[in-house]
Parts: sequence; structure tokens; C-alpha cells
Amino acid sequence: MTKPRILSGVQPTGNLHLGNYLGAIRNWVEMQSQYDNYFCVVDLHAITVPHNPATLAQNTHAIAALYLACGIDLQYSTIFVQSHVSAHAELAWLLNCITPMNWLTDMIQFKEKALKQGENVGVGLLDYPVLMAADILLYKADKVPVGEDQKQHLELTRDIVDRFNHQFGKGEKILKSPQPLIRKEGARIMSLTDGTKKMSKSDPSEQSRINILDSPEDITKKIRKCKTDTTPGLTFDDPERPECQNLLTLYMLLSGKAKDEVAAECADMRWGDFKKLLTETTINALQPIQDKYHEIMADKSYLESILREGRQKAELVAQQTLKDVKTALGYSLPL
Ligand code: TYM
Repeated sequence: MTKPRILSGVQPTGNLHLGNYLGAIRNWVEMQSQYDNYFCVVDLHAITVPHNPATLAQNTHAIAALYLACGIDLQYSTIFVQSHVSAHAELAWLLNCITPMNWLTDMIQFKEKALKQGENVGVGLLDYPVLMAADILLYKADKVPVGEDQKQHLELTRDIVDRFNHQFGKGEKILKSPQPLIRKEGARIMSLTDGTKKMSKSDPSEQSRINILDSPEDITKKIRKCKTDTTPGLTFDDPERPECQNLLTLYMLLSGKAKDEVAAECADMRWGDFKKLLTETTINALQPIQDKYHEIMADKSYLESILREGRQKAELVAQQTLKDVKTALGYSLPL
């Protein structure tokens, strides 16, 4: 029996932080043996906001190396770079032409990011979710494991599928509707400076996030300075205490302990003691990933061979879907 398929990706913009790890990559690793997985580094998405050409390639390789360092296993998973498979851009164009404009102007992430860009906002930023839909649909993914912030993009993808199949499928499901896979715990890791704001690569304050590659000194400093509150005792699920909820969740996920266990262990702790515990747990959880990452980055040819092989495997699947879509749209295919 063939396994259901997963596709997901991360943008090579800035450092990956605990939100990316706990909301996405860690879940990919845990589930990978049950699925046929495609994980891409979405470098076409990375230029939807101003970017630096001098670091794009290096950042792309760094994300692929982090996938491996976090535990993505090539026995179950294919790792590739989005821009190496030209079908992504081509399908995005075809889907653009059947996607109503107002579906895109309604996207929360577009509105938020566009606000930050001011007058310089590019068409690519508006079109970002259509490219994301193309990423997913090319591989006929059954499930897409992501953090909470991507939920609306997944809904749009499903709407595009319905519209395409309805208009051009002649009763057949040419495109497959994917299910989002959003875990309850870790789906929305919050900023260290404000427990009501998402931890984000684009927050100007480094203090707001812990990066996967942060040194033990930086992690110690960031946790020491992170926002807390003055209520005695530490508890989950108090809406008045977003920072407490977030930091306990980080501890729970990074220690691998159950929620009840963490609740009992931390109920009477003071912030100072808890912060020491969280610091130690975070450093211990990230250390093996960092060691493996540096090992992989030191062997450029190994990483390149993985990406070359990944591209070949991805290309085979992607080209077939693209062909099906073009045929449905009435194109004459090259002989
Ligand atoms: P990106 O690069 O912003 O984020 C990568 C993954 O990390 C998750 N994430 C978080 N999870 C929990 N808490 C947070 N604070 C947090 N911040 C980020 C994101 O939900 C995501 O799963 N559009 C995508 C990239 C993409 C993609 C795709 C994903 C492009 N094509 C196809 C899945 C399938 C994005 O911006 O990810």
C-alpha cells in the first residue's frame, strides 16, 4: 500500500526559530515514517520581501542542512529546493489565472506584511499564497504539516482546488485537496517580549525569539530577560497570563514531558528557578541539532548531492501534475 503524501516547506529568510522548529519541523520528523514526504526550501517565496542576493544561496543550503540536522531522514523523505523545480513557478502562473483577486487581498499575512512594506509592496507578496498552493498541489499532497499561521493559506489552496476541478476537471479530480496538519501544542509559539504576539523571523527585536542556532550564552541571556508576570505560581491555560502559557509550553515541548507532569512540576516554582530550568532544557534540546548542522555544513558536496537527488525525485512527480493541469486547461503539449 502506498503511504499518504506530505509536503511542507520553510522560507530561507533569516534564522529559524523555536516557532519554526516546534510548529513545523519537529512534527515532520516525528511523523515521517508514516508518510511519503517532500520537504522543500521555498526560496521563491523568500524574494517576496526585499532580500539580499549575496546570502540567498547560502541561506537556502543552511535550511536544507537544518532539516537534516533536526532529523529528517532520507529513507522516508525527499529534500529539495523550490527554485530547482521550475514546475512550481509554472503552476503558480496557471493557478493565478483562475484565482480571484479578492481571495488574495483578504489574506491576513498579506495585509500584515504589506503594511510593513508600505508603498514598496510587490505583486509577489500578494501572489505568495498561489505559489504556496502550487507547491502543495504539484505533489498531490494529502497532508500539509504547518503552524497555525498557515491555516488560511491552506484554506485558499483547497478553494483553488475546488474551483479548478469544477471548471476544468470534467468530473475528474485533477488536483487533490490537501488537509492541514496543525498540532494543538506548539502551533503558535509566542514572542519572548510579548506573549500575545507570534514569534517571528521578521520581528526587529532579536530578544523576541530563540533561534535554533543561538549559542548557549544567547539562549541564557534571552530567557533571563524574557517577559514574565507577577502572579505567584506557574499555570497553563490562564488567558490573563500569555507569557506563562508560552514559556510552560516551550518547556513541555523541549523537555518531551507531558502537560500534567509539567503543570505539577512547575506549579509552585518561582520565575527565577523556572527560567534556569527552561534555559538548561533549551540548550540541551538544541545542542545535538547544532552539532549535526555544523557537521553537514562543513561537507558541501554531501549537501549538494542530497539536493540534486531531491530535485530529480521532486521533478518526476511535479512534471506529471503539471502535464495533467495543462492538458485540462487545453494546452497543446510539446511533442
Ligand atoms: P515560514 O518559513 O514562515 O515558516 C515555516 C513554518 O514554521 C511555522 N511557524 C510557526 N509555528 C509555530 N509558532 C510560530 N511562531 C511560527 N512561526 C512560523 C509556519 O507555520 C510554517 O509551518 N508559507 C510558508 C512556507 C511555505 C509552505 C509551502 C508551507 C511555502 N510553500 C507549502 C507548507 C507547504 C511560510 O511562510 O513558512
